[in-house]
Amino acid sequence: MTNFNTIRQYNFPTTIRFGAGAINELADHLVAQNLHNPLIVTDPTVIQLDFFKKIKDKLFRKNLWCEVFSDIHKNPVKSDVLKGGAIYKATQRDCIVGIGGGAAMDVARAIALRIHHHRDLFDYDDLIGGDKYVTGEVPYFITVPTTSGTGSEVGRSAIISEDDTHRKRILFSPKLLAKIVFADPMLTMELPPFITAATGMDALTHNMEAFIAKDFHPLCEGIALQGMGLINQSIETATNKPDLESRSKMMIASLMGAVAFQKGLGVVHSLAHPLSTLLDTHHGLANAVNLPYGMRFNISGFEDRFKKMARMMDLQNESGEALVEHLFQLNERIGLPTQLRDIDVKQEHLEPLADLAIADFAHPNNPKPVSREDFLNLYKEAL
Ligand SMILES: NC(=O)c1ccc[n+]([C@@H]2O[C@H](COP(=O)([O-])OP(=O)(O)OC[C@H]3O[C@@H](n4cnc5c(N)ncnc54)[C@H](O)[C@@H]3O)[C@@H](O)[C@H]2O)c1
Ligand SMILES: [Fe+2]
Repeated sequence: MTNFNTIRQYNFPTTIRFGAGAINELADHLVAQNLHNPLIVTDPTVIQLDFFKKIKDKLFRKNLWCEVFSDIHKNPVKSDVLKGGAIYKATQRDCIVGIGGGAAMDVARAIALRIHHHRDLFDYDDLIGGDKYVTGEVPYFITVPTTSGTGSEVGRSAIISEDDTHRKRILFSPKLLAKIVFADPMLTMELPPFITAATGMDALTHNMEAFIAKDFHPLCEGIALQGMGLINQSIETATNKPDLESRSKMMIASLMGAVAFQKGLGVVHSLAHPLSTLLDTHHGLANAVNLPYGMRFNISGFEDRFKKMARMMDLQNESGEALVEHLFQLNERIGLPTQLRDIDVKQEHLEPLADLAIADFAHPNNPKPVSREDFLNLYKEAL
């Protein structure tokens, strides 16, 4: 029987202190690194939560002079990063701690990039080869996830949108990997059901898309299979009747999803990103709704992959269709919608959505090619 009350250390892909109470080690860790002036980056909701106040109090008690930056958008934009960077410099910080969901951790990572890299932020966009400019130092950077979804805590990229168009851009460099992660499932205990479900389905999407993404990457595939199994076992309990075991499994599995998607993502993320761009839809929710449709698109020609996933999810019927049906039902059981119309998508949005989807960065790794017409058809199906 696994004991979820102990803290474990994992050293892959970075140092991870994982377990209930791991957050209590943050202050001593900073002191041990001789860091005393952290910039804490979080969001406008998390800053008001009890656990956040406790973390801050604990840091102050150790004579750590914290500055908190929380003025960020739900889908963070470049100006958020520039503001945070200016505060870092004006208040003479010596390290950055991102505490929150993917949004806060991504902004924290982008600020870390910003400090010693002064080109236009989007010059560092990975898709235009911007990582070659990431040659300077990056401040000591720590992540503390408070949702179990994006896995951004172990990511090397930050997804930041343009202020005017809301187009998502990816800033990437291996230098942006956190030096240490404090992954404490207790911080997610109060996460409301809807956010638990939506972020959890993002994590499931990462594991599933990474598993079937093209290319030979058995390392990531092994992690992805294990990750999807853990989520399948625990997402319902974590959403509807959370306990330490389900919260712990969701937290480690979301982190695994982000490790796995080094291999690539696919059609589902390219269907989801335009919804955030156009309608400011939460990233996880956008993935959750599109997941069954995008997976159905991928079945033919990849039946063996679907069989492996169905087996991992303990389905009796191991066909791709049965797995897709399972995903629809899973969404329903955790209180998420199964159609785009339920998340304010209208007929007139479909063409602009398809334009954005075909330009998205995720689908080139999909196991089969996706055309603009395919995207349009998938949106029509899901409407
Ligand atoms: N870097 C990456 O690899 C990567 C991957 C996928 C997505 N993303 C990005 O991550 C963002 C989405 O992240 P997310 O899904 O974690 O959502 P989020 O960061 O927007 O958090 C969702 C909501 O939950 C609240 N919240 C966070 N922790 C809480 C807690 N413990 N209790 C109560 N409420 C809490 C937040 O305030 C917010 O309102 C998007 O910007 C997306 O583009 C990044
Ligand atoms: Fe995602």
